[in-house]
Amino acid sequence: MSTLQMVPVNEPDRQYYFIDKARTYVRQLGEALGRTPRACITTFGCQMNSKDSEKLLGVLEEIGYEESSEEMADLVIFNTCTVRENANTRVYGRLGRLKPVKKKNPHMMIGLCGCMMQEELVVNKLKDSYRFVDLIFGTHNVYKLAELLVMRFESKDMIIDIWEDTDKIVEDLPTERKYPFKSGVNIMFGCNNFCTYCIVPYVRGRERSRRPEAILSEIKRLASEGVVEIMLLGQNVNSYGRGLPEEITFAKLLEQIAAIPGIQRIRFMTSHPKDLSDELIEVMAREEKICNHLHLPVQAGSSRVLKKMNRIYTKEGYLTLVKKLREKIPDISLTTDIIVGFPGETEEDFLETLAVVKEVRYDSAFTFLYSKRSNTPAATMTDQVPEDIAKERFDRLLKEVQEIAHERTQRFTGQVLDVLVEEVNQHDPQYLTGRLSNNLLVHFPGSEDLIGQIVPVKLSECKGFYYLGEKLEQGE
Ligand code: SAH
Ligand code: SF4
Ligand code: F3S
Repeated sequence: MSTLQMVPVNEPDRQYYFIDKARTYVRQLGEALGRTPRACITTFGCQMNSKDSEKLLGVLEEIGYEESSEEMADLVIFNTCTVRENANTRVYGRLGRLKPVKKKNPHMMIGLCGCMMQEELVVNKLKDSYRFVDLIFGTHNVYKLAELLVMRFESKDMIIDIWEDTDKIVEDLPTERKYPFKSGVNIMFGCNNFCTYCIVPYVRGRERSRRPEAILSEIKRLASEGVVEIMLLGQNVNSYGRGLPEEITFAKLLEQIAAIPGIQRIRFMTSHPKDLSDELIEVMAREEKICNHLHLPVQAGSSRVLKKMNRIYTKEGYLTLVKKLREKIPDISLTTDIIVGFPGETEEDFLETLAVVKEVRYDSAFTFLYSKRSNTPAATMTDQVPEDIAKERFDRLLKEVQEIAHERTQRFTGQVLDVLVEEVNQHDPQYLTGRLSNNLLVHFPGSEDLIGQIVPVKLSECKGFYYLGEKLEQGE
């Protein structure tokens, strides 16, 4: 009773209490092992998950784990994705391979979290057939990792904590950034759009925006730590601010972020065409720090299919938007997502998608075969497209998309553009790898100390989807 009374009720205080407590258990584990306990988080899926994994790692390091490879780890966490069936299958495969490893190392712990865990079917399957898993939690309680680990250390049973939804946003917990010079920043969570093929609204809950002052103070802190590029994250950033007490739009938030000294590049994902405002286009055109790139998922080129997808825009509406963007920001790079084989898609519908691709000429496009997700409206549509037909269309689309992307990528050959240097080239240590404002990769000779800096690079040779270049020296 007396110890219970000591546990703080409010967050983040409660988690700091459990972080302290978990530290004792991890120290004891370390003493038993004769070394520092090691942890590995493997992330599947999108940047939302990557960001959550940074928060998880922040807590793990705070309680005394050191990061390691999966083979060496005493605690393995899979942060899962379920947007398409193949993401799901991969997790079961990886999990199956861990079972014998855990048998050999009885102190080892396995945790599963992320979008897949928000599906009842998945958790039931794990409970039945994967009893060796120690910890299962979802997308809404990532911040509770220390508390859940304490529960596991104290009980020895499988701990399962899944919430259906939340209206809470817990701020000010530790986080471990993957890169010192760039960082993702959540501006909103969840999604209210219910595109009929998509499982995200069911596994990430209702849309909620973070308070602007929380976002701005996080970015100011990041800037003071040396971060120069930020990526604002949300399933539909264009609806940022809905439901907040203050009057704020995504465009206004961008302006305030652009005013923060030290931040040199601003990116954001994802922009839903139905909510892209003129105000946003103007801010993008005006603010130099906002990158010359917009990811604008079209999903399909036929208005009939778009309607069945519940995307709320038509082909014509989308093309008008693209025209407007290109008028106001002439050199902008446009990228997109496209789904092939949505239920009821006919050859004519598909040809409209191809026509949109040819008209817009995307700098790159992610193409996906439609994947049936449980409990989504599209899963019960009766006119599912046979796999062989969908696959054949997918190949045609991919060919077109790649040809256009090759041509588009070449347009910068010979120009000198700013590159944010990200790492030593993975194949040749004499080379560095960085990104242009429009997100294209550039490799050029240079030394490691340039990592994290923005430098002018002459783009000498286009190699399909990336460039080889040379850094300009001062005065050149
Ligand atoms: N919120 C973002 C996308 C999140 S999911 C947006 O609205 O654009 C990323 C991409 O996965 C989507 O753009 C879509 O192209 C694809 N996707 C989502 N559900 C899918 C499904 N059931 N089958 C195939 N692709 C899917
Ligand atoms: Fe899924 Fe649509 Fe929400 Fe994007 S906007 S996450 S595609 S429901
Ligand atoms: Fe996957 Fe969840 Fe992202 S389902 S794509 S990790 S929001």
